[in-house]
Amino acid sequence: MFRYLADDAPNKSQQQVCIIINDRKVTVPVNTSVWSAMAASGEATTRLSSVSQQPRSAYCAMGACFECLVEIDGLPNQQACMTRVYPGMEVRSQTITEASQAVPLAAGLGYELNADQEADHD
Ligand code: FES
Repeated sequence: MFRYLADDAPNKSQQQVCIIINDRKVTVPVNTSVWSAMAASGEATTRLSSVSQQPRSAYCAMGACFECLVEIDGLPNQQACMTRVYPGMEVRSQTITEASQAVPLAAGLGYELNADQEADHD
């Protein structure tokens, strides 16, 4: 679906970086954005919509829309379009949704959930 333009295509003289995207080892040119690395390797989904849980992907590719949020080395909500790859980086499409975060978020804010609310999120 996505590919490098001929002038930007990785070549053998260019320094390469090995990263992991959704448990798959990928080699990309240094200074590639995480989003570019994902797209070129066939991983277009960056996250699930927190409300509809539909797959989302980069939209603006310049840091404005926040559609490209991914987990990088276990840290969620990182903008794939604004982050450069580095050796050993582990990128994961983000699956945080309202349902998956309701209990941890409530607990982090000191709210107490009743039994029905806790059952909804188990
Ligand atoms: S694609 Fe819009 S902020 Fe990354």
